[in-house]
Amino acid sequence: MTFTEAKTLLDANGQSHVLRFWDTLDATAQAALLAQIATLDFAAIGRMQAMLAQAGQAATQAAPFEPAPVEAPEGDALAGYTALGEDLLRQGKVAALLVAGGQGSRLGYDGPKGAYPIGPVSGRPLFWFHARKLLGLKNTYGAPVPFYVMTSETNDAATRALFEANGYFGLDRDDVFFFTQGMWPALDPQGKIILDKPGHIFMSPDGHGGVLAALDRSGALADMAKRGIEHVFFFQVDNPMVNIADPLFVGLHAHKHADMTVKVCKKRDAHEGMGVVVIRNGGYAMVEYSELSDEQMERTNPDGSLWLAYGSPAIHMFSRDFLQAEAERHMPLHLAHKKIAMVDDNGQTIKPTAPNGYKFEKFIFDVIPNAKTLLTLAFDRTQEFSPVKNAEGNDSPATTKRDLQAKWRGWLAQAGVSLPENTPVEIDPAYALNAEQLKAKGLKIG
Ligand code: UTP
Repeated sequence: MTFTEAKTLLDANGQSHVLRFWDTLDATAQAALLAQIATLDFAAIGRMQAMLAQAGQAATQAAPFEPAPVEAPEGDALAGYTALGEDLLRQGKVAALLVAGGQGSRLGYDGPKGAYPIGPVSGRPLFWFHARKLLGLKNTYGAPVPFYVMTSETNDAATRALFEANGYFGLDRDDVFFFTQGMWPALDPQGKIILDKPGHIFMSPDGHGGVLAALDRSGALADMAKRGIEHVFFFQVDNPMVNIADPLFVGLHAHKHADMTVKVCKKRDAHEGMGVVVIRNGGYAMVEYSELSDEQMERTNPDGSLWLAYGSPAIHMFSRDFLQAEAERHMPLHLAHKKIAMVDDNGQTIKPTAPNGYKFEKFIFDVIPNAKTLLTLAFDRTQEFSPVKNAEGNDSPATTKRDLQAKWRGWLAQAGVSLPENTPVEIDPAYALNAEQLKAKGLKIG
């Protein structure tokens, strides 16, 4: 892109200020700024501005909703779905999709969150646990589960380097597909693009919902189609307990020809920060924690159980066709008022003390209302969910390591192995994916 092209584009979109320091920049900085301008999606920026214009208006009353029914198959149904899921895994029709582009600001770890050392004994990283589960699946079913990993500009190189340095954790490198999510600018209250340096536009990741466009743009969806993938297991980087592509989940989703299936678990308490799947206006939707009133969160059924008992930890199955269709649509935007470093008219970067601009994100669950068939499947969180979100307290490395070890101790007990209390425990998922596989090893300890 030339200077003239950039200027014409910016002028036409009311963003001429982006070039106001042009004459003060050296040739390298000028080239870098032009490259950044070339990435701007003015249609998306237009949608951001429209959203900003509406943000000040009174919110419309949200329509009433009911909690969505939850599937909890048992007996023959459970066995049948599991057998179907195992069949699909054997046929190589299942892929795993990991969103790992986030900034992990609450954890405050210097590096990709997936590199965080979570192994209670080994200190192995989150990525290790995910990759070793995929290896375990390949060993069990004889076909690979290709691994699609979304990174962002800030952590892509470090993520790839970690996989390289560790021999892809035992996976075949041809079965690992990295792709980066989109970045876009933030806007000031007047809808102007924010510069954080005279020659640099402040950009931030477009949210985990950016995965749909990124899958398409990167060729990952085409790669899935070429491999004959039909079903895609979606998960987040921060939960080493996740039961990747578990056959019951895969089989239920496939049997019911669902566009999307959402795993849900009992909330820890009424106020746990999880979204809930609901039926609203005759269709499915996710209601975010922040949209729920105290009354809604605390409401109970006649038997004393919570009305909104189940929350979503963002563990989903998608049909590949649905992902493809959704990748071609615009997703709604969510805006957050944030403190964003910004240059003043003298070209000095000012660090604000109060929110001064708006960041925009897309959320994956916004596809839910478009799903023709959507299911929710209940799971036991003691076996599958304990995320690393915060540095301390709930959902921190300490609680995740505690929960991982409690789960593994349970597996060992089922395998007839009793260990002295507080013995550190860690199990390689490629050695045993579940309690049954561990039992089949015939361990003799203690
Ligand atoms: P979170 O909402 O927990 O955000 O992301 P985060 O970035 O990991 O952490 P905080 O909020 O800054 O502390 C949930 C999942 O979505 C991914 C994250 O990597 C994580 O797996 N994600 C989030 C993306 O891939 N891209 C994004 O833009 C945001």
